[in-house]
Amino acid sequence: MKIFAITLLAGLSLCANSALAQQAAAPAGDIENGKKHYTTDGCYQCHGTLGNGAALTGPKLANTELPFDAFLMQLRHPANDMPPYEAKIISDKTVADIYAYMKSLPKSPDAKSLPLLTGMGVK
Ligand code: HEC
Repeated sequence: MKIFAITLLAGLSLCANSALAQQAAAPAGDIENGKKHYTTDGCYQCHGTLGNGAALTGPKLANTELPFDAFLMQLRHPANDMPPYEAKIISDKTVADIYAYMKSLPKSPDAKSLPLLTGMGVK
């Protein structure tokens, strides 16, 4: 009985550990495929060709700090104006690829650090 209880406990803690690990780690994504889909699926139209975003169309995605779960959730159930993307249009795997592509991009510079934009009234 004691051995059974220990085995059960060990099993439970293994499950708990792997559940935590799944939440924390993003699935491995294919950056090249993500890059392709970022364009063909139209993300770039609102979020910019390099994920730099634009005030009127969509926020920055380059080097996103969102965890994968939140990234995926935004596609399935957008917060506001973004069109929804169902799994039959973009699979979870492809979203993971797009996520990997966004993670691979450098953070975009602050608009205030760009002389051309500050010259146009960005403060
Ligand atoms: C028609 C414009 C549009 C398109 C196309 C679009 N988005 Fe968005 N996206 C937005 C807007 C606007 C927001 C801000 C939240 C909202 O309105 O839902 C947003 C928010 C997001 C966010 C949350 C960002 C954050 O930091 O909170 C993610 C992630 C995202 N979009 C990913 C994508 C991906 C991936 C695609 C392509 C499959 C895509 N979007 C296509 C407009 C768009």
